[in-house]
Amino acid sequence: MAPAAPRLVPPYIEALCPYEPGRSAEEVQQRYGLKNVVKLASNENPLGPSPLAIEAIQARLQSIHVYPRAGLSLRKALAERYGAKIENVIVGSGSDSIIAAIVRTFLSDDDEILTTEAAFGGFQVTAKSRGVAYKTVPYRNWRYDLAVLADAITDRTKIIYVANPNNPTGTIVTRGEFEEFHRRVPDRVLIILDEAYFEYARGERDYPDSMQYRFDNVITLRTFSKVYGLAGLRVGYGFAHESLIRNLLKVKLPFEPGVLAEAAAIAALQDDAFVGRSLGVNALGLQYFENALAERGFQIVPSRANFVMLVFPDPVSASEFTERLLEAGVIVRPLASFGLPGCVRISIGTKEQNRILINAVDSTQAVTLPMFPAAHGKEMAEASLHI
Ligand SMILES: Cc1ncc(COP(=O)(O)O)c(C=O)c1O
Repeated sequence: MAPAAPRLVPPYIEALCPYEPGRSAEEVQQRYGLKNVVKLASNENPLGPSPLAIEAIQARLQSIHVYPRAGLSLRKALAERYGAKIENVIVGSGSDSIIAAIVRTFLSDDDEILTTEAAFGGFQVTAKSRGVAYKTVPYRNWRYDLAVLADAITDRTKIIYVANPNNPTGTIVTRGEFEEFHRRVPDRVLIILDEAYFEYARGERDYPDSMQYRFDNVITLRTFSKVYGLAGLRVGYGFAHESLIRNLLKVKLPFEPGVLAEAAAIAALQDDAFVGRSLGVNALGLQYFENALAERGFQIVPSRANFVMLVFPDPVSASEFTERLLEAGVIVRPLASFGLPGCVRISIGTKEQNRILINAVDSTQAVTLPMFPAAHGKEMAEASLHI
């Protein structure tokens, strides 16, 4: 028998569950033998990409034999757009990639990461891959509990991660809550304020746009994957104090983002008409879902993003719901991999896609699932929802 292989993989990597992306329409079409499938699972822009971005990609196609310049032009464009200096801006292949660079840049072995339970799955995986302590505090009414998060800071806390709006719950922390929280966080702790869904919430009076707070220990992350419709290209960006950015740039992979991604992002940044249309479609869809799903007895968490989260009384009901919708050709996102096996996230689609989802919910009435009576958590078993 061959000798046992040396232990190459650290135990915290062996124990890591990889990030599970939402299922693709092609996969579901094949598996269930369906002609049409609607994917409302990954918080993508249902209108597609920004048209200006497509034009910019076409114009750059002849240049893809040349290495990118580390996103320099995009950094400049973002600095101009947001009234920052280029030294305060970082860009990368998605905000995921910037999160990875942050984890590699700022953490030492004895440091701790602190965040909410069931935080954005991409963050969880990247953070846990560093092998440092990963601590969480519970949600309060599906919102980050910033007071308890501040109480949980120890001498070893190095990074606190707050997504605002939050994925998967869709809730926000308010301006007042954030300001109070920031006062309680020591300067030696880095706050990652992940604003992937910022465009959807920035119109809200109580939403704290972190660009209005240029705190030295806060890094703001944003993305072109959502309202700009460029998820497949992979472009994200961040703003922070120049000393943080300078060190991040040492660690970040040097050629991100690619030339087509950068050209598309620069063009998309100017595409106010597309962003406006996207926000309009989202606002109508969000309202439609909140009303239609609440009318049908679902417990729905009020959202400020481009998705909604449903809370089921137990994991079995949540996975049956997801499975029934798959059979009807609608992909939604089960949240077990985030740590919420009793919840399901649904992205807002076009008007037509949203109707298809609600019709699919109605047409699978043969199965009766135990549900919460509207807003309460009691007597779940008695309440039933027909899906
Ligand atoms: C809160 C949050 N942060 C970051 C990301 C990753 O975005 P990107 O596509 O820029 O890597 C997502 C994507 O779903 C997200 O929901």
